[in-house]
Amino acid sequence: MNVAIVGTGYVGLVSGACFSEVGVDVTCIDIDAAKIERLRRGEIPIYEPGLAELVERNVAAGRLHFSTSLAEVASKVEIVFCAVGTPSDEDGSADLSHVLAVARDFGDVIDRYTLFVTKSTVPVGTHRLVQREIEERLRLRGCPDTPFELASNPEFLKEGAAIKDFMSPDRVVIGIASDRGRKLMERLYRPFLLNNFRVMFMDLASAEMTKYAANAMLATRISFINEIANLCEKVGADVNAVRTAIGADARIGGKFLYPGCGYGGSCFPKDVRALIRTGEENGCPMKVISAVEAVNEHQKTVVFRKLYELFDGNLRGRTIAIWGLAFKPETDDMRCAPSLEVITRLVEAGATVRVFDPVAMAECRRRIADAVTYASDIYDAAIDADAVALLTEWKQFRLPSWAVVARAMKGNTIIDGRNIYQSADLEANGLKLISIGR
Ligand SMILES: NC(=O)c1ccc[n+]([C@@H]2O[C@H](COP(=O)([O-])OP(=O)(O)OC[C@H]3O[C@@H](n4cnc5c(N)ncnc54)[C@H](O)[C@@H]3O)[C@@H](O)[C@H]2O)c1
Repeated sequence: MNVAIVGTGYVGLVSGACFSEVGVDVTCIDIDAAKIERLRRGEIPIYEPGLAELVERNVAAGRLHFSTSLAEVASKVEIVFCAVGTPSDEDGSADLSHVLAVARDFGDVIDRYTLFVTKSTVPVGTHRLVQREIEERLRLRGCPDTPFELASNPEFLKEGAAIKDFMSPDRVVIGIASDRGRKLMERLYRPFLLNNFRVMFMDLASAEMTKYAANAMLATRISFINEIANLCEKVGADVNAVRTAIGADARIGGKFLYPGCGYGGSCFPKDVRALIRTGEENGCPMKVISAVEAVNEHQKTVVFRKLYELFDGNLRGRTIAIWGLAFKPETDDMRCAPSLEVITRLVEAGATVRVFDPVAMAECRRRIADAVTYASDIYDAAIDADAVALLTEWKQFRLPSWAVVARAMKGNTIIDGRNIYQSADLEANGLKLISIGR
């Protein structure tokens, strides 16, 4: 089979590499010529475990190609995936300009039946806009009868575990209307079916909605447990005990019930906002989801507020070490990361901030340059720090030598924004632990 994937970001590159791994001929396309040039030279523009090897292997096997032009491959592909970004617009709705641009490119180049599959996360009803855009371009080209079809195939991979998620997902959701399109998608996903996972076919609107409902549900669990954690602190309860006990109920389950310093990343914040906006547009206010977002905005400031209280409202001249910048471990993605919120507030309050992250240092430099000092590891970051704040639960941060940390620091407080440390370990070294909801 021969497919093109337009948009070579986290989703496009991982999808392309994984499809080519099972034998599909894939061309990954992007308008960012510099990115395509780097990929052609064998450089991987993002950090994702296992991705570099996968790309290298499939490029060498001649199954994975990179291009800046859909026109170049249009005559050989049966399916064109759209995996471009859908960032938040000013009013919170999803910005569909990139998706519609891909639809126009598609309409400009196809010359026989081709399937247009939207993998980008798009609001319910977007397929109608895409359809209109393609039809318009075909009309302008004077070939309005060129057959094409749309499908919605939202992506559920998690950054940091993207390859595993793609190769053996919990489910594949495909919204499609015709039998012909369905057979094509079944053929493409058959190699993955051997692992016994489920492909769920449905109508296009339901597939589009499924992605938002899934992300909103996960975000809800996080905001829910964060709110419970905040109340635990006030009433002297331990959220860890509470979380474990409610998670033991099979109806609730323990996943995604970890309190912390708020969710970030490229998906939850924008998808939650877009769902709220879709509700507004349809006269159906999303009250639960609106509260989820408000709770999260508040939670992203929790570490800063704890530091502010610790130093009696005066952070001027204090040195704060930040352990972890990425919005979660195993990625260099800092989009909407709580670290940015905490750093901005600390700098505004006059503190000196020393940061360390195993992979997101370059990304941090790109975003905030010399607003902070860059350390070579967690111990270096802790030098002369009045307090340390852990914001990303990287594995290598789990068991630091507290004796070394204590010697390096000027102060003695560790704020654990991810609840991974135990008081006793720190106290043995003269350090004080402040965590979330305990
Ligand atoms: N990142 C994730 O974990 C994740 C998970 C599931 C779904 N999604 C969704 O997938 C979509 C893509 O997300 P991402 O994180 O991969 O985005 P990204 O920003 O990493 O990549 C998008 C790519 O599209 C390219 N692009 C933009 N317009 C283009 C055009 N007209 N033609 C060709 N290329 C174009 C950009 O240059 C960029 O390289 C989004 O809708 C996102 O919500 C993301």
